[in-house]
Amino acid sequence: MPSIGSVGGFAAAKAAGAKIVMVTAYDAWSARLMADAPVDCLLVGDSAMMVVHGEKDTLGATPELMALHTRAVARGAPGTFIVADMPFLAARKGEAHALDCAALLLRAGAHAVKIEGARGHVEVVRRLVESGIPVMGHLGLTPQWVRGLGGFRVQARDAEGAERLMGDAAALQEAGVFAIVLECIPQGLAREATSALGIPTIGIGAGAGCDGQVLVLHDMLGLNPDFRPRFARRFADGAALVRSGAVRFSEAVRSGEFPAQEEGF
Ligand code: KIV
Repeated sequence: MPSIGSVGGFAAAKAAGAKIVMVTAYDAWSARLMADAPVDCLLVGDSAMMVVHGEKDTLGATPELMALHTRAVARGAPGTFIVADMPFLAARKGEAHALDCAALLLRAGAHAVKIEGARGHVEVVRRLVESGIPVMGHLGLTPQWVRGLGGFRVQARDAEGAERLMGDAAALQEAGVFAIVLECIPQGLAREATSALGIPTIGIGAGAGCDGQVLVLHDMLGLNPDFRPRFARRFADGAALVRSGAVRFSEAVRSGEFPAQEEGF
């Protein structure tokens, strides 16, 4: 299955039963590395606020900051499908604001935008889609709601929550989203949503029943030794690799072994 190059590629992947691979990227160099790896899609997530900027939540992201990160990712991975997050409240201030924000992100190089939640802005989603802006949904744990949710917690554990999630997913599909991220919900519910929907689901902490999986790049590479959520398997020991490079550099400088004659002019 070739890497996903368009919105249609997501539907084709679901139809073919091919798992969709998405990973976050926030800058040009990591985007370039991921473009060389067999990932289908890069997500310029507002998790950048936590992962790159060191904040405790994503609420500080602005349209301008997301556009800056998106432009860097697009420069690093010009041939890869890029989804950019609409930041906190961008879809809640009415259609005009949402259209302006989405335009900023698409002009910065995104092929689609991702919008958290559904209730209260389904019509805004519809308007974006009708305006030619591909939209990815995001349900379950929606970090922009962290204050209201009382923390980063697994969602939809009870029947009422599950019913609500299924209703929101159906409403988003009907409004025209091309895929939905399902974050931190029970595996059975994610499986149920995946088989009920005609569009792909991309899970994070939602089990193997989704049509694809997404991880934050730094979690996937083990670059943050202090952050070990249960769902984020480490596929490399990036922190140890980075640390050992820095140790070797420091030792080489202090011993006078670096730079060597041939490394000078
Ligand atoms: O911002 C982000 O990185 C995300 C993913 C966790 C899905 O929304």
